[in-house]
Amino acid sequence: MVVDVITIFPEMFEGPMSVSIIGSARERGLLELRTHDPRDHTCDRHRTTDDYPYGGGPGMVMKPEPLVAAINAARTAGPGSAPVAILTPSGRPFDQQQAHELSGLDRLILVCGRYEGIDERVFAYADMTISIGDYVLTGGELPAMVVIDAVTRLLPGVLGDEASSADESFTDGLLEYPQYTRPAEYEGMSVPDVLLSGHHAAIAAYRRAEAIRKTAQVRPDLLVAANLTDHERRLADEARKETDRD
Ligand code: ADE
Repeated sequence: MVVDVITIFPEMFEGPMSVSIIGSARERGLLELRTHDPRDHTCDRHRTTDDYPYGGGPGMVMKPEPLVAAINAARTAGPGSAPVAILTPSGRPFDQQQAHELSGLDRLILVCGRYEGIDERVFAYADMTISIGDYVLTGGELPAMVVIDAVTRLLPGVLGDEASSADESFTDGLLEYPQYTRPAEYEGMSVPDVLLSGHHAAIAAYRRAEAIRKTAQVRPDLLVAANLTDHERRLADEARKETDRD
């Protein structure tokens, strides 16, 4: 997959996108990451990419010309078509399902805003908007890296088989069950016996029950869409009541 990022801070991507699984995916050619700086598409001495908002108000707004020129440069830098996504706190909320959808694309262009926002006319050049959550960051660079990370780990060959099937449990609509490793006893806290039993069916049942309990307590909203048996619904209700009592 080829991802083009439009950003006035390309150096922000160097560290986080060069290590661990993403770094290895790039080295192995599974992900090609390219950055395009709107400043390279300015004509003035100061390489200006922002200006005062029409109508007044605080902050600066990103000018349309350098951003759109950078989007067009990214578009024509590779074969085929590439959907354009603008990272903005007023975008559509990003989730695991969208990460799966985007991981099926050959190309993607991510546009990072800065300052107080982006000139509204730039949105005419985008296919979608993405928000990574209901909070405001100083720019779209960290959100773009979040999207790249979530999408890249779903690309074929990036994770081993074992890890990719673990991901399916979240796609089930439940949070991940609790994990333990050695030692079996730590500071008076022990690993649940069932996990040491070697009994695969019992371990699977324990993990599913724990995933349901945790989801009911931390993210009850997710359970609306989850596929639960009547017994599991009762387990979830019990777990919720426990938290209500806390
Ligand atoms: N830019 C600033 N905050 C953002 C957010 N929460 N999501 C996407 N882009 C952003």
